[in-house]
Amino acid sequence: MKNKYGLPYFVLLFSLLLPNGFINARPAGKKTKLEIFQPGESWPDQDGNHIQAHGGGILKINKTYFWYGEQRGKGLDPNFRYVSCYSSKDLLNWKFRGNVVKMLPPDSLTSGWILERPKVYYNPGTKKYVMYFHLDDKGYKVAQVGIAVSDKPDGDFKFVRRFRPLGHESRDIGQFIDDDGTAYLVFEDRPYGFRIARLSKDYMDVEKEMTLVKAHMEGGAIVHYQGLYYSIGSALTGWNANPNKYATAPTLEGPWTEFRDIAPPETKTYGSQSTMLIKVTGSRKTTVIFLGDIWRPKTQYDSRYLWMPLNLGDGKLWLPEPQPWKMNIKTGESSVVKK
Ligand code: GAL
Repeated sequence: MKNKYGLPYFVLLFSLLLPNGFINARPAGKKTKLEIFQPGESWPDQDGNHIQAHGGGILKINKTYFWYGEQRGKGLDPNFRYVSCYSSKDLLNWKFRGNVVKMLPPDSLTSGWILERPKVYYNPGTKKYVMYFHLDDKGYKVAQVGIAVSDKPDGDFKFVRRFRPLGHESRDIGQFIDDDGTAYLVFEDRPYGFRIARLSKDYMDVEKEMTLVKAHMEGGAIVHYQGLYYSIGSALTGWNANPNKYATAPTLEGPWTEFRDIAPPETKTYGSQSTMLIKVTGSRKTTVIFLGDIWRPKTQYDSRYLWMPLNLGDGKLWLPEPQPWKMNIKTGESSVVKK
């Protein structure tokens, strides 16, 4: 007996019992179409594979979003480091565009080297896509950024150079593009705090420091909303979650307020760590989404994502308890979906 998928019922029943059963049950050739965001769940791309874009960043080009992140899928060549690229029109349904970086260690870095938290900027002057990432040795002592460049959003990106921005140590990096298009890098400079610095005209260098926020925070993310800058960071606890905090300032130079919790501290940001904030400006509403990673250090290929619209305004920011939600990308409106 066959069902509408053309599969015998016992096959369908068996596949539904597998983890991610709905993915396995998808008939070959049929694209996965998602309706709701499910924070913390496995997030299939259009081919049904869990998205591999950890510690990532989002770039919007016209109406297309590109999601770049650490590719930590199973079965990759351990000599290489990979950055993946996905594209989407609605931030929910993502098409895998390939591994746009596949890199051997640059000179003097040896096995166990690190490439983390890739972020891509598009430079309208040079028409180049410029990727920044955290580059390090096994012990996180090198503390540099690396730059790779491409003519197209989906690569390939060619490695150009590595350096310490403005001579400072740089571990976790974050990306911020202001409403006027100015591009900034956020980077963690132990033991001072985190710095926000403007990129050079061609984005190939970090040119001018805007501020040093004297807080020991990483996973830095910034959004400009209703005339205020909101900055989120995580404490330095490696792969373990901690209570992420936020501060606000009228300008990037500051003055920055004290840091306050973004969620009940005992939830440790609901097990996640900040990587970016994105602002979706629709015809009716502007929604700011918290993008966090739920790391699974022993099974990194299965690390998850916590994306959730924030409550923010008047200098206050709050991450609601994660629940399934949906968004209308045209109007910018989002709502929680009752279970
Ligand atoms: C975290 C950092 C991650 C990764 C990890 C390694 O603190 O945010 O990007 O570097 O440490 O332990």
